[in-house]
Amino acid sequence: MRILTFATVAASLTLNVSGFIADPRQVRWNTLTGKQTQLVGHRGEKAFMPEHTRASYWQAAVEGADYIEPDLGLSKDGHLIVNHNEWLSENTNVASIPELAHLRTNKTWTNDGKPTTVDDWFVMDLTLAQIKMLRVNQAPFTWRPQHFNGMFEVLTFEEYLQIVRNVTIDLGRPFGVIPELKSPLLYNLGRSYPRYFEDRAILTLRHYGWTSVTGKIDESQHSDLSFAPLRPLNGSCLGPAAWQSFDQETAAYLSSHTSTPVVALNQNLPWFFTPKGLDRVATYAQIVSPWKDFFVTGAEAYFKSQNITWDPKEIAQLGGFIAPDRLAKEIHKRGMTLSPYTFYDSHQAMSYLCQSGVKPLSKSGFCPKDKREEFFYFFEQGMDFMFVENIQEANVLRILYTNHLEQQRASEYSS
Ligand SMILES: *[C@@H]1O[C@H](CO)[C@@H](O)[C@H](O)[C@H]1NC(C)=O
Ligand SMILES: *[C@@H]1O[C@H](CO)[C@@H](O)[C@H](O)[C@H]1NC(C)=O
Ligand SMILES: *[C@@H]1O[C@H](CO)[C@@H](O)[C@H](O)[C@H]1NC(C)=O
Ligand SMILES: *[C@@H]1O[C@H](CO)[C@@H](O)[C@H](O)[C@H]1NC(C)=O
Repeated sequence: MRILTFATVAASLTLNVSGFIADPRQVRWNTLTGKQTQLVGHRGEKAFMPEHTRASYWQAAVEGADYIEPDLGLSKDGHLIVNHNEWLSENTNVASIPELAHLRTNKTWTNDGKPTTVDDWFVMDLTLAQIKMLRVNQAPFTWRPQHFNGMFEVLTFEEYLQIVRNVTIDLGRPFGVIPELKSPLLYNLGRSYPRYFEDRAILTLRHYGWTSVTGKIDESQHSDLSFAPLRPLNGSCLGPAAWQSFDQETAAYLSSHTSTPVVALNQNLPWFFTPKGLDRVATYAQIVSPWKDFFVTGAEAYFKSQNITWDPKEIAQLGGFIAPDRLAKEIHKRGMTLSPYTFYDSHQAMSYLCQSGVKPLSKSGFCPKDKREEFFYFFEQGMDFMFVENIQEANVLRILYTNHLEQQRASEYSS
Protein backbone atom coordinates (compact mmCIF):
# COMPACT_ATOMS: atom_id res chain seq x y z
CA MET A 1 0.00 0.00 0.00
CA ARG A 2 1.30 3.42 -0.86
CA ILE A 3 1.38 5.68 2.10
CA LEU A 4 0.34 9.21 1.23
CA THR A 5 2.58 11.54 3.15
CA PHE A 6 1.80 15.20 3.47
CA ALA A 7 4.49 15.91 0.87
CA THR A 8 2.93 13.66 -1.78
CA VAL A 9 -0.51 15.08 -1.09
CA ALA A 10 0.91 18.58 -1.33
CA ALA A 11 2.64 17.71 -4.59
CA SER A 12 -0.54 16.44 -6.20
CA LEU A 13 -2.74 19.28 -5.05
CA THR A 14 -2.17 22.98 -5.06
CA LEU A 15 -3.59 24.99 -2.26
CA ASN A 16 -4.94 28.23 -3.65
CA VAL A 17 -4.84 31.39 -1.63
CA SER A 18 -8.45 31.26 -0.50
CA GLY A 19 -7.57 28.09 1.36
CA PHE A 20 -9.49 25.68 -0.84
CA ILE A 21 -7.88 22.65 -2.39
CA ALA A 22 -7.81 23.25 -6.14
CA ASP A 23 -7.21 20.87 -9.03
CA PRO A 24 -3.65 21.46 -10.34
CA ARG A 25 -5.02 21.19 -13.88
CA GLN A 26 -7.15 24.25 -13.13
CA VAL A 27 -7.48 26.86 -15.83
CA ARG A 28 -4.62 29.26 -16.28
CA TRP A 29 -5.30 32.96 -15.77
CA ASN A 30 -3.44 35.65 -17.73
CA THR A 31 -1.62 36.81 -14.59
CA LEU A 32 2.16 36.47 -14.43
CA THR A 33 1.95 33.29 -12.32
CA GLY A 34 -1.20 31.91 -14.00
CA LYS A 35 -3.04 32.02 -10.67
CA GLN A 36 -6.30 33.89 -10.20
CA THR A 37 -6.28 37.64 -9.49
CA GLN A 38 -5.66 38.44 -5.81
CA LEU A 39 -8.24 40.76 -4.25
CA VAL A 40 -6.94 43.54 -2.02
CA GLY A 41 -9.55 44.94 0.39
CA HIS A 42 -9.23 48.71 -0.08
CA ARG A 43 -8.90 50.23 3.43
CA GLY A 44 -10.43 46.97 4.67
CA GLU A 45 -14.06 46.66 3.54
CA LYS A 46 -14.92 50.33 3.24
CA ALA A 47 -18.11 49.74 1.28
CA PHE A 48 -19.87 48.70 4.49
CA MET A 49 -17.77 49.73 7.49
CA PRO A 50 -15.98 52.96 8.46
CA GLU A 51 -12.61 52.51 6.73
CA HIS A 52 -9.44 51.36 8.49
CA THR A 53 -11.28 50.28 11.63
CA ARG A 54 -11.15 46.87 13.27
CA ALA A 55 -14.67 46.26 11.88
CA SER A 56 -13.55 47.12 8.37
CA TYR A 57 -10.53 44.79 8.55
CA TRP A 58 -12.51 41.96 10.14
CA GLN A 59 -15.23 42.24 7.49
CA ALA A 60 -12.65 42.30 4.66
CA ALA A 61 -11.29 39.02 6.02
CA VAL A 62 -14.71 37.40 6.37
CA GLU A 63 -15.65 38.44 2.80
CA GLY A 64 -12.57 36.63 1.54
CA ALA A 65 -10.07 39.36 0.66
CA ASP A 66 -6.59 37.99 -0.10
CA TYR A 67 -4.86 41.14 1.21
CA ILE A 68 -6.12 43.77 3.68
CA GLU A 69 -4.86 47.31 3.06
CA PRO A 70 -3.79 49.90 5.66
CA ASP A 71 -2.57 53.47 4.97
CA LEU A 72 0.16 54.69 7.33
CA GLY A 73 0.81 58.05 8.98
CA LEU A 74 2.98 59.10 11.92
CA SER A 75 1.71 60.84 15.07
CA LYS A 76 3.55 63.76 16.67
CA ASP A 77 5.09 61.40 19.23
CA GLY A 78 6.26 58.92 16.58
CA HIS A 79 3.52 56.27 16.61
CA LEU A 80 2.56 54.75 13.27
CA ILE A 81 -1.18 55.06 12.89
CA VAL A 82 -3.62 53.98 10.19
CA ASN A 83 -5.59 56.64 8.31
CA HIS A 84 -6.00 57.47 4.63
CA ASN A 85 -5.73 61.25 4.71
CA GLU A 86 -2.96 63.21 6.36
CA TRP A 87 -5.77 65.26 7.92
CA LEU A 88 -8.52 64.02 10.18
CA SER A 89 -11.81 65.92 9.89
CA GLU A 90 -13.16 64.08 6.85
CA ASN A 91 -13.57 60.68 8.50
CA THR A 92 -13.44 61.38 12.25
CA ASN A 93 -15.19 63.57 14.83
CA VAL A 94 -12.05 65.67 15.49
CA ALA A 95 -13.87 68.97 14.82
CA SER A 96 -16.28 68.33 17.71
CA ILE A 97 -13.61 67.82 20.41
CA PRO A 98 -13.00 71.15 22.21
CA GLU A 99 -9.62 70.02 23.68
CA LEU A 100 -8.27 69.63 20.15
CA ALA A 101 -9.61 72.88 18.66
CA HIS A 102 -6.26 74.66 19.00
CA LEU A 103 -4.53 72.08 16.79
CA ARG A 104 -6.37 73.10 13.63
CA THR A 105 -3.94 74.59 11.09
CA ASN A 106 -3.20 75.29 7.42
CA LYS A 107 -0.61 73.03 5.80
CA THR A 108 0.77 73.03 2.25
CA TRP A 109 2.63 70.02 0.87
CA THR A 110 2.99 67.83 -2.23
CA ASN A 111 0.25 65.22 -2.11
CA ASP A 112 0.73 62.44 -4.71
CA GLY A 113 2.57 64.94 -6.94
CA LYS A 114 0.08 67.80 -6.56
CA PRO A 115 0.64 70.89 -4.39
CA THR A 116 -2.14 70.79 -1.79
CA THR A 117 -3.23 73.20 0.95
CA VAL A 118 -5.58 71.95 3.65
CA ASP A 119 -7.03 73.75 6.69
CA ASP A 120 -7.61 70.93 9.19
CA TRP A 121 -6.23 68.76 12.02
CA PHE A 122 -3.19 66.71 10.96
CA VAL A 123 -2.09 63.27 12.09
CA MET A 124 1.50 64.55 12.51
CA ASP A 125 0.40 67.32 14.93
CA LEU A 126 -1.54 65.07 17.35
CA THR A 127 -0.07 62.67 19.90
CA LEU A 128 -1.28 59.09 19.96
CA ALA A 129 -3.29 59.85 23.11
CA GLN A 130 -5.07 62.67 21.25
CA ILE A 131 -5.65 60.47 18.18
CA LYS A 132 -7.17 57.81 20.45
CA MET A 133 -9.82 60.37 21.53
CA LEU A 134 -11.25 60.30 17.98
CA ARG A 135 -14.01 58.08 16.59
CA VAL A 136 -14.22 57.14 12.91
CA ASN A 137 -17.23 57.61 10.64
CA GLN A 138 -18.27 56.83 7.04
CA ALA A 139 -18.53 60.44 5.87
CA PRO A 140 -18.32 61.67 3.18
CA PHE A 141 -19.70 58.40 1.74
CA THR A 142 -23.32 59.16 2.57
CA TRP A 143 -24.77 56.27 0.51
CA ARG A 144 -23.00 53.76 2.76
CA PRO A 145 -24.25 52.48 6.13
CA GLN A 146 -23.86 55.30 8.64
CA HIS A 147 -24.97 53.46 11.76
CA PHE A 148 -21.46 52.32 12.70
CA ASN A 149 -20.30 55.94 12.95
CA GLY A 150 -18.69 56.83 16.24
CA MET A 151 -18.11 53.23 17.35
CA PHE A 152 -14.48 52.65 16.41
CA GLU A 153 -11.18 54.32 17.21
CA VAL A 154 -8.26 55.07 14.89
CA LEU A 155 -5.84 52.12 15.02
CA THR A 156 -2.07 51.97 15.24
CA PHE A 157 -0.08 50.03 12.60
CA GLU A 158 0.72 47.53 15.36
CA GLU A 159 -2.97 46.98 16.08
CA TYR A 160 -3.61 46.47 12.36
CA LEU A 161 -0.85 43.85 12.23
CA GLN A 162 -2.23 42.14 15.34
CA ILE A 163 -5.68 42.07 13.74
CA VAL A 164 -4.33 40.45 10.57
CA ARG A 165 -2.48 37.87 12.70
CA ASN A 166 -5.72 37.36 14.61
CA VAL A 167 -7.90 36.75 11.54
CA THR A 168 -5.21 34.45 10.15
CA ILE A 169 -5.49 32.32 13.30
CA ASP A 170 -9.23 32.74 13.92
CA LEU A 171 -10.42 32.17 10.33
CA GLY A 172 -7.77 29.55 9.58
CA ARG A 173 -6.32 31.03 6.39
CA PRO A 174 -3.56 33.52 5.63
CA PHE A 175 -4.19 37.15 4.69
CA GLY A 176 -1.67 39.45 3.03
CA VAL A 177 -0.55 42.78 4.50
CA ILE A 178 0.07 45.68 2.12
CA PRO A 179 0.86 48.91 3.98
CA GLU A 180 0.96 52.17 2.04
CA LEU A 181 3.31 54.90 3.27
CA LYS A 182 1.44 58.18 2.71
CA SER A 183 3.30 61.47 2.08
CA PRO A 184 6.77 60.50 3.39
CA LEU A 185 8.03 64.05 2.79
CA LEU A 186 5.42 65.41 5.17
CA TYR A 187 5.84 62.73 7.84
CA ASN A 188 9.65 62.98 7.80
CA LEU A 189 9.56 66.77 8.31
CA GLY A 190 11.23 67.71 11.58
CA ARG A 191 12.27 64.14 12.46
CA SER A 192 15.83 63.25 13.42
CA TYR A 193 16.75 62.05 9.90
CA PRO A 194 15.14 61.86 6.42
CA ARG A 195 13.92 58.20 6.34
CA TYR A 196 12.63 58.09 9.92
CA PHE A 197 9.03 57.24 8.87
CA GLU A 198 10.09 54.46 6.49
CA ASP A 199 12.46 52.90 9.04
CA ARG A 200 9.85 52.81 11.79
CA ALA A 201 7.42 51.09 9.42
CA ILE A 202 10.11 48.56 8.44
CA LEU A 203 11.06 47.75 12.06
CA THR A 204 7.39 47.35 13.02
CA LEU A 205 6.59 45.05 10.10
CA ARG A 206 9.70 42.99 10.95
CA HIS A 207 8.60 42.54 14.56
CA TYR A 208 5.32 41.00 13.37
CA GLY A 209 7.12 38.54 11.10
CA TRP A 210 6.34 39.99 7.66
CA THR A 211 9.71 41.34 6.53
CA SER A 212 13.44 41.18 7.09
CA VAL A 213 15.89 44.05 6.84
CA THR A 214 18.35 43.86 3.94
CA GLY A 215 19.84 47.40 4.01
CA LYS A 216 21.47 49.56 6.64
CA ILE A 217 19.05 51.02 9.21
CA ASP A 218 20.18 53.01 12.26
CA GLU A 219 18.12 51.11 14.82
CA SER A 220 19.51 53.20 17.67
CA GLN A 221 17.23 56.03 16.44
CA HIS A 222 14.25 53.79 17.22
CA SER A 223 15.19 52.38 20.62
CA ASP A 224 11.95 53.91 21.97
CA LEU A 225 9.87 51.43 19.96
CA SER A 226 8.40 48.87 22.34
CA PHE A 227 6.29 46.21 20.74
CA ALA A 228 3.47 44.19 22.22
CA PRO A 229 4.11 40.43 22.51
CA LEU A 230 3.02 38.37 19.50
CA ARG A 231 -0.03 36.14 19.70
CA PRO A 232 1.41 32.71 18.82
CA LEU A 233 0.39 31.53 15.35
CA ASN A 234 -0.11 28.04 16.77
CA GLY A 235 0.44 26.33 13.40
CA SER A 236 -1.17 28.96 11.13
CA CYS A 237 0.98 30.47 8.39
CA LEU A 238 1.34 34.19 7.88
CA GLY A 239 0.20 35.51 4.50
CA PRO A 240 2.37 37.47 2.06
CA ALA A 241 3.42 41.13 2.41
CA ALA A 242 4.02 44.05 0.05
CA TRP A 243 4.81 47.75 0.55
CA GLN A 244 3.12 50.56 -1.38
CA SER A 245 4.01 54.18 -2.02
CA PHE A 246 3.19 56.95 -4.49
CA ASP A 247 6.58 58.42 -3.61
CA GLN A 248 8.93 56.67 -6.04
CA GLU A 249 11.99 57.39 -3.87
CA THR A 250 10.32 55.84 -0.85
CA ALA A 251 9.37 52.85 -3.02
CA ALA A 252 13.03 52.47 -4.05
CA TYR A 253 14.19 52.84 -0.42
CA LEU A 254 11.78 50.15 0.85
CA SER A 255 12.92 47.88 -1.95
CA SER A 256 16.63 48.27 -1.16
CA HIS A 257 16.16 47.95 2.63
CA THR A 258 13.76 45.00 3.01
CA SER A 259 13.00 41.56 1.62
CA THR A 260 9.40 42.62 0.86
CA PRO A 261 8.20 43.39 -2.71
CA VAL A 262 7.21 46.98 -3.44
CA VAL A 263 4.12 48.36 -5.19
CA ALA A 264 4.88 51.55 -7.15
CA LEU A 265 1.60 53.49 -7.14
CA ASN A 266 1.20 56.13 -9.84
CA GLN A 267 -1.22 58.39 -11.63
CA ASN A 268 0.70 61.62 -12.06
CA LEU A 269 4.13 61.00 -13.63
CA PRO A 270 3.97 60.95 -17.46
CA TRP A 271 7.44 59.28 -17.85
CA PHE A 272 6.17 56.30 -15.84
CA PHE A 273 3.76 55.18 -18.62
CA THR A 274 6.37 54.75 -21.38
CA PRO A 275 8.53 51.69 -22.25
CA LYS A 276 11.75 53.26 -20.94
CA GLY A 277 9.90 54.61 -17.91
CA LEU A 278 8.76 51.08 -17.02
CA ASP A 279 12.36 49.85 -17.44
CA ARG A 280 13.31 52.33 -14.72
CA VAL A 281 10.39 51.32 -12.46
CA ALA A 282 11.53 47.70 -12.80
CA THR A 283 14.81 48.59 -11.04
CA TYR A 284 12.96 49.12 -7.74
CA ALA A 285 9.39 47.82 -7.96
CA GLN A 286 8.02 44.31 -8.29
CA ILE A 287 4.39 45.42 -8.61
CA VAL A 288 3.04 48.34 -10.68
CA SER A 289 -0.16 50.03 -9.56
CA PRO A 290 -1.72 52.65 -11.85
CA TRP A 291 -5.15 54.22 -11.58
CA LYS A 292 -7.44 51.83 -13.51
CA ASP A 293 -8.27 54.27 -16.33
CA PHE A 294 -4.69 53.90 -17.68
CA PHE A 295 -5.86 50.43 -18.87
CA VAL A 296 -9.12 51.69 -20.41
CA THR A 297 -9.15 55.29 -21.66
CA GLY A 298 -5.34 55.68 -21.52
CA ALA A 299 -2.51 57.84 -20.18
CA GLU A 300 -2.83 60.76 -22.57
CA ALA A 301 -6.54 61.31 -21.93
CA TYR A 302 -6.08 60.90 -18.19
CA PHE A 303 -3.23 63.43 -17.88
CA LYS A 304 -5.18 65.93 -19.99
CA SER A 305 -8.18 65.55 -17.69
CA GLN A 306 -5.95 66.33 -14.70
CA ASN A 307 -4.15 69.27 -16.38
CA ILE A 308 -0.86 67.35 -16.05
CA THR A 309 1.48 68.47 -18.82
CA TRP A 310 4.41 66.64 -20.44
CA ASP A 311 7.21 67.35 -22.86
CA PRO A 312 6.24 65.51 -26.09
CA LYS A 313 9.90 65.23 -27.12
CA GLU A 314 10.86 63.58 -23.83
CA ILE A 315 7.90 61.18 -23.99
CA ALA A 316 8.80 60.29 -27.61
CA GLN A 317 12.41 59.58 -26.54
CA LEU A 318 11.11 57.24 -23.83
CA GLY A 319 9.13 55.32 -26.47
CA GLY A 320 5.79 57.18 -26.29
CA PHE A 321 2.77 56.49 -24.08
CA ILE A 322 1.85 52.81 -23.96
CA ALA A 323 -1.67 52.17 -25.30
CA PRO A 324 -4.19 51.13 -22.60
CA ASP A 325 -4.64 47.58 -23.90
CA ARG A 326 -0.82 47.10 -24.16
CA LEU A 327 0.03 48.37 -20.69
CA ALA A 328 -0.51 45.08 -18.82
CA LYS A 329 1.61 43.16 -21.35
CA GLU A 330 4.45 45.69 -21.16
CA ILE A 331 4.49 45.48 -17.35
CA HIS A 332 4.46 41.66 -17.35
CA LYS A 333 7.19 41.63 -20.03
CA ARG A 334 9.48 43.32 -17.51
CA GLY A 335 8.78 40.65 -14.89
CA MET A 336 6.56 42.91 -12.78
CA THR A 337 3.01 42.20 -11.67
CA LEU A 338 0.04 44.57 -11.76
CA SER A 339 -2.31 45.97 -9.18
CA PRO A 340 -4.64 48.70 -10.51
CA TYR A 341 -6.93 50.73 -8.22
CA THR A 342 -9.76 51.30 -7.29
CA PHE A 343 -12.69 49.05 -8.16
CA TYR A 344 -15.64 50.59 -6.38
CA ASP A 345 -18.77 49.22 -4.85
CA SER A 346 -21.52 49.08 -7.49
CA HIS A 347 -23.49 51.82 -5.69
CA GLN A 348 -20.86 54.23 -6.97
CA ALA A 349 -19.90 55.51 -10.45
CA MET A 350 -16.98 53.62 -12.02
CA SER A 351 -15.36 56.93 -13.06
CA TYR A 352 -13.78 56.07 -16.43
CA LEU A 353 -13.25 59.09 -18.69
CA CYS A 354 -14.60 57.12 -21.65
CA GLN A 355 -17.93 56.96 -19.81
CA SER A 356 -18.20 60.72 -20.16
CA GLY A 357 -17.43 60.77 -23.86
CA VAL A 358 -13.60 60.73 -24.03
CA LYS A 359 -12.42 58.39 -26.81
CA PRO A 360 -10.50 55.36 -25.46
CA LEU A 361 -7.06 55.01 -27.08
CA SER A 362 -7.12 51.21 -27.28
CA LYS A 363 -7.61 49.23 -30.49
CA SER A 364 -10.86 47.74 -29.23
CA GLY A 365 -12.30 51.03 -27.98
CA PHE A 366 -13.47 49.13 -24.86
CA CYS A 367 -15.39 51.12 -22.24
CA PRO A 368 -17.17 49.19 -19.44
CA LYS A 369 -20.96 49.41 -19.15
CA ASP A 370 -21.30 47.55 -15.86
CA LYS A 371 -19.23 46.00 -13.11
CA ARG A 372 -19.18 42.57 -14.76
CA GLU A 373 -17.78 43.98 -18.02
CA GLU A 374 -15.27 45.99 -16.03
CA PHE A 375 -13.99 43.02 -13.99
CA PHE A 376 -13.95 40.59 -16.94
CA TYR A 377 -11.85 43.07 -18.96
CA PHE A 378 -9.35 43.47 -16.13
CA PHE A 379 -9.21 39.71 -15.44
CA GLU A 380 -8.66 39.13 -19.19
CA GLN A 381 -5.80 41.66 -19.18
CA GLY A 382 -4.11 39.56 -16.47
CA MET A 383 -4.28 41.77 -13.38
CA ASP A 384 -2.31 40.01 -10.64
CA PHE A 385 -3.97 42.07 -7.89
CA MET A 386 -6.94 44.47 -7.80
CA PHE A 387 -7.83 47.00 -5.08
CA VAL A 388 -11.52 46.37 -4.52
CA GLU A 389 -14.45 47.64 -2.46
CA ASN A 390 -17.42 45.35 -1.87
CA ILE A 391 -15.13 42.34 -1.76
CA GLN A 392 -17.94 39.80 -1.87
CA GLU A 393 -19.15 41.20 -5.21
CA ALA A 394 -15.58 41.04 -6.53
CA ASN A 395 -15.30 37.46 -5.28
CA VAL A 396 -18.51 36.43 -7.08
CA LEU A 397 -17.26 38.01 -10.31
CA ARG A 398 -13.95 36.15 -9.89
CA ILE A 399 -15.83 32.84 -9.61
CA LEU A 400 -17.95 33.71 -12.68
CA TYR A 401 -14.75 34.46 -14.61
CA THR A 402 -13.25 31.12 -13.55
CA ASN A 403 -16.41 29.42 -14.86
CA HIS A 404 -16.03 31.36 -18.09
CA LEU A 405 -12.42 30.17 -18.46
CA GLU A 406 -13.46 26.57 -17.73
CA GLN A 407 -16.21 26.71 -20.35
CA GLN A 408 -13.77 28.18 -22.83
CA ARG A 409 -11.33 25.34 -22.17
CA ALA A 410 -14.06 22.70 -22.37
CA SER A 411 -15.19 24.00 -25.75
CA GLU A 412 -11.56 23.99 -26.99
CA TYR A 413 -11.28 20.28 -26.02
CA SER A 414 -14.55 19.33 -27.65
CA SER A 415 -13.91 21.16 -30.92
C1 LIG B 1 -6.20 78.96 6.85
O1 LIG B 1 -6.04 79.94 5.85
C2 LIG B 1 -7.25 80.59 5.48
C3 LIG B 1 -6.97 81.53 4.33
O2 LIG B 1 -5.89 82.37 4.62
C4 LIG B 1 -7.83 81.33 6.70
O3 LIG B 1 -9.08 81.92 6.37
C5 LIG B 1 -8.03 80.32 7.83
O4 LIG B 1 -8.47 80.98 9.00
C6 LIG B 1 -6.74 79.57 8.14
N1 LIG B 1 -7.01 78.54 9.11
C7 LIG B 1 -6.39 78.44 10.29
C8 LIG B 1 -6.78 77.31 11.18
O5 LIG B 1 -5.54 79.23 10.65
C1 LIG C 1 -6.05 39.63 18.95
O1 LIG C 1 -6.57 38.49 19.58
C2 LIG C 1 -6.26 38.42 20.98
C3 LIG C 1 -6.71 37.04 21.47
O2 LIG C 1 -8.06 36.83 21.16
C4 LIG C 1 -6.96 39.57 21.68
O3 LIG C 1 -6.65 39.55 23.06
C5 LIG C 1 -6.44 40.88 21.08
O4 LIG C 1 -7.12 41.98 21.65
C6 LIG C 1 -6.62 40.91 19.59
N1 LIG C 1 -5.93 42.07 19.07
C7 LIG C 1 -6.55 43.05 18.41
C8 LIG C 1 -5.71 44.24 18.05
O5 LIG C 1 -7.72 43.01 18.12
C1 LIG D 1 -3.16 25.39 19.43
O1 LIG D 1 -3.39 24.26 18.61
C2 LIG D 1 -3.61 23.07 19.33
C3 LIG D 1 -3.68 21.92 18.31
O2 LIG D 1 -4.56 22.21 17.27
C4 LIG D 1 -4.90 23.20 20.14
O3 LIG D 1 -5.15 22.02 20.90
C5 LIG D 1 -4.74 24.38 21.08
O4 LIG D 1 -5.97 24.61 21.77
C6 LIG D 1 -4.37 25.65 20.30
N1 LIG D 1 -4.07 26.71 21.24
C7 LIG D 1 -4.57 27.94 21.09
C8 LIG D 1 -4.16 28.93 22.14
O5 LIG D 1 -5.32 28.27 20.18
C1 LIG E 1 -8.10 71.80 -15.40
O1 LIG E 1 -8.14 73.14 -15.86
C2 LIG E 1 -9.46 73.60 -16.20
C3 LIG E 1 -9.32 74.95 -16.85
O2 LIG E 1 -8.55 75.81 -16.06
C4 LIG E 1 -10.31 73.60 -14.93
O3 LIG E 1 -11.62 74.01 -15.25
C5 LIG E 1 -10.35 72.19 -14.35
O4 LIG E 1 -11.05 72.20 -13.12
C6 LIG E 1 -8.94 71.66 -14.12
N1 LIG E 1 -9.05 70.25 -13.75
C7 LIG E 1 -8.38 69.73 -12.71
C8 LIG E 1 -8.60 68.29 -12.43
O5 LIG E 1 -7.62 70.36 -12.02
